[in-house]
Amino acid sequence: MSFFVAADAYDRFMGRYSRLLSPQMADLAGVAAGQRALDVGCGPGALTAELVARLGPKAVAAVDPSEPFVAAARDRHPGVDVRQAPAEDLPFPDGSFDAALAQLVVHFMADPVAGLTEMRRVTRAGGVVVACVWDHAGGQGPLGAFWRAARELDPGVHDEGDRPGAREGHLAQLFTAAGLTDVESTSLVAELDHATFENWWEPFTEGVGPAGAHVASLDSDAREELKERCRALLPEAPFRLATVAWAAVGRA
Ligand SMILES: C[S@@+](CC[C@H](N)C(=O)[O-])C[C@H]1O[C@@H](n2cnc3c(N)ncnc32)[C@H](O)[C@@H]1O
Repeated sequence: MSFFVAADAYDRFMGRYSRLLSPQMADLAGVAAGQRALDVGCGPGALTAELVARLGPKAVAAVDPSEPFVAAARDRHPGVDVRQAPAEDLPFPDGSFDAALAQLVVHFMADPVAGLTEMRRVTRAGGVVVACVWDHAGGQGPLGAFWRAARELDPGVHDEGDRPGAREGHLAQLFTAAGLTDVESTSLVAELDHATFENWWEPFTEGVGPAGAHVASLDSDAREELKERCRALLPEAPFRLATVAWAAVGRA
């Protein structure tokens, strides 16, 4: 997976949207002073920042398999217990946290049910597990115009629409399969202004995630064609994108 990239590149590409989800995720989990929380697939720490603001660094732990992201999260959040690990093998004892959260991560897990089962295991009985994934299937995520343009130019392109949790209601099914109870589905909205088309496009050229990997795989003519197709699909700049993520909440 293309997450062995500089944290700054991630911030420009996806962090600009993901940080807008973080307060909503923490609200969904009911994160409040006095609790302990785990950020699974923390990246450089967009959600970690929100958890630290609510709980203080000593009450927050975070994991991610990407070495540069773990380094960035440690750097940005001194005092937080940040470890390099996948969701499927969490390095914590049973019942360690009041809440375990995975923001934009389930669709990248090698085994989503195993990852969510681990999140349930490290959460105390009655504690909360929350996750969200962009609506890649419905095209309402921040990459909707990009993947639509890519498909128009190459119908065989493998976009993110079939990934776990990326369609309405699928996260809840995965939560139930992982043994979580009282499972509920909802959606989150993140609105971001783009001053220019270039401001929207440039981060796609930095190789982050499946979209960045797709751009990197194209020669310069194909890249230019994709860029211009995206420009035609997006509103004239400046524009605001209202992006949608599916979310689920359940109890351990
Ligand atoms: C789109 S980023 C989300 C990062 C961060 N949560 C945010 O909201 O900005 C996806 C993250 O999932 C991580 N990831 C990929 N596979 C994972 C796995 N099996 N377990 C945990 N995290 C994983 C990646 O390294 C990356 O940091």
